[in-house]
Amino acid sequence: MAQPVLPVALERGSGISLVAQLANGVRGLVSARAIEPGARVPSIRALGADLGVARAVVEQAYDQLIAEGWLIARRGAGTYVAEVGRLQVATVPAGRDAAPADETTAGRVRMDTGTPWMDPRHDAGWRRAWREVSAARIPRGYPDAAGIPELRAELAGYVSRTRGLSCRPDEVLVTSGITHGLALLLDVLDPGAVAIEDPGYRAAVATVEQSGRPVLDVAVDSEGLDVAALRSSPAAVRAVYVTPAHQHPLGITMSAGRRIALLSEATRRGALVVEDDYDSEFRYDVAPLPALAALDRDRVIHLGSASKSVHPGLRLGWLVGPAAVVAAVAARRGARHDHPPWPVQLAFLSMLRAGHVDRLVRSARRVYADRSRLVVQALSSYGDIGSPPAGMYLTLPLPGPVADSVRAQCWQRGFDIPSLEFYSRTSGRTGLVIGFGGLTDEELSRALDVLTAALDRERLAVQPTQLDDVRDDEPDPLLARAYSSP
Ligand SMILES: Cc1ncc(COP(=O)(O)O)c(C=O)c1O
Repeated sequence: MAQPVLPVALERGSGISLVAQLANGVRGLVSARAIEPGARVPSIRALGADLGVARAVVEQAYDQLIAEGWLIARRGAGTYVAEVGRLQVATVPAGRDAAPADETTAGRVRMDTGTPWMDPRHDAGWRRAWREVSAARIPRGYPDAAGIPELRAELAGYVSRTRGLSCRPDEVLVTSGITHGLALLLDVLDPGAVAIEDPGYRAAVATVEQSGRPVLDVAVDSEGLDVAALRSSPAAVRAVYVTPAHQHPLGITMSAGRRIALLSEATRRGALVVEDDYDSEFRYDVAPLPALAALDRDRVIHLGSASKSVHPGLRLGWLVGPAAVVAAVAARRGARHDHPPWPVQLAFLSMLRAGHVDRLVRSARRVYADRSRLVVQALSSYGDIGSPPAGMYLTLPLPGPVADSVRAQCWQRGFDIPSLEFYSRTSGRTGLVIGFGGLTDEELSRALDVLTAALDRERLAVQPTQLDDVRDDEPDPLLARAYSSP
């Protein structure tokens, strides 16, 4: 009896062997139930003749499928389709986090808070680091789960020199950035909520929520996180996440009194404080304030990152905390090989040692100081933009409808400016968060023209809005201590 012909198309010269094409074709027919389990497939000779290929091709394809369990060979009785069950095709639910299509920047200049300016004059330093990586001896096996020892030692020196936080290498863990450091830490903490500044850093909120923990939104006032509001919450808080050097996105420096109050409250609750130190290197007026962690080494976990100083795509950061916490995190992540790639660690080590990071920070700081002056000059008559002490963005408080309208006008003219509402979950604060790091000078100048024209249309100059904050530009006397900055 003639065997049924299998509808498999073979393409010669496609770069895929005929054996693989035939095996793929038959596998597809079986998994789609185009051939039922128990059915006999054509003999090697018949299929070879039908497809115009050598018998050896069919034989090898059948052998492969028999080895994989799709076909069964019955001695002397031919080859049959195995009972493999039906493939359930999972549909991935469109999660609430999926970005709607109209939220993409679509060719506009995005003025976000996370894209740094990079001085092209320092490209040679970047290339030198990667040359060193390619020349390095390739290590045996996986790197140390806490990070390569030389980098941990170098980072201990770096945070003590630049952040007034003296620590030992065994108190440093190399991460793939601040958000990664937070996720790793949450992994070893007992169950409980994480309190976060509101408005605050969206990626931290997402990291906490994705870890399955509740987020407790805590308001921010002119001195930083409102500790009294935290104190009044009955929630079981395991950690408090703050940006004390430069509150994200309001730009406030946490006052000395508030630092002390926060540490007392965390101690009372038996909670950790997580210090997100994302851009303290870019303080323009005085040396960066010492890290909050310098006040209480046992209570505060300090998170730093190369995302602003070198590049966010490098995915390199550090966690500084008690040696026992570092060891617990390293053990946990080591079990799943979740450490930054060895070449990235080595490249960053080389950049630190060669002074490349310091050079990048120094030149970017100058550019940010100039740009921030430009933005303040252009916008200060429209609202309480203050005179920011640091960073690569400024926040202009505006009534919600005005902010929306200005944002829409800027969008139409090619600029995507985040709204303060985007960072706000319960605070009700509205305005614009104007990032100026990732733009060219020319783009920034055009952006300010577009922005001021839109604000003029809203006739805001007459009715400035207050941020209700007094900025604390002075170094905290309580924290005054000897440390040097790059
Ligand atoms: C508040 C804040 N924290 C942390 C980061 C950096 O995160 P990561 O080190 O994961 O890139 C950023 C970057 O934009 C930030 O704005």
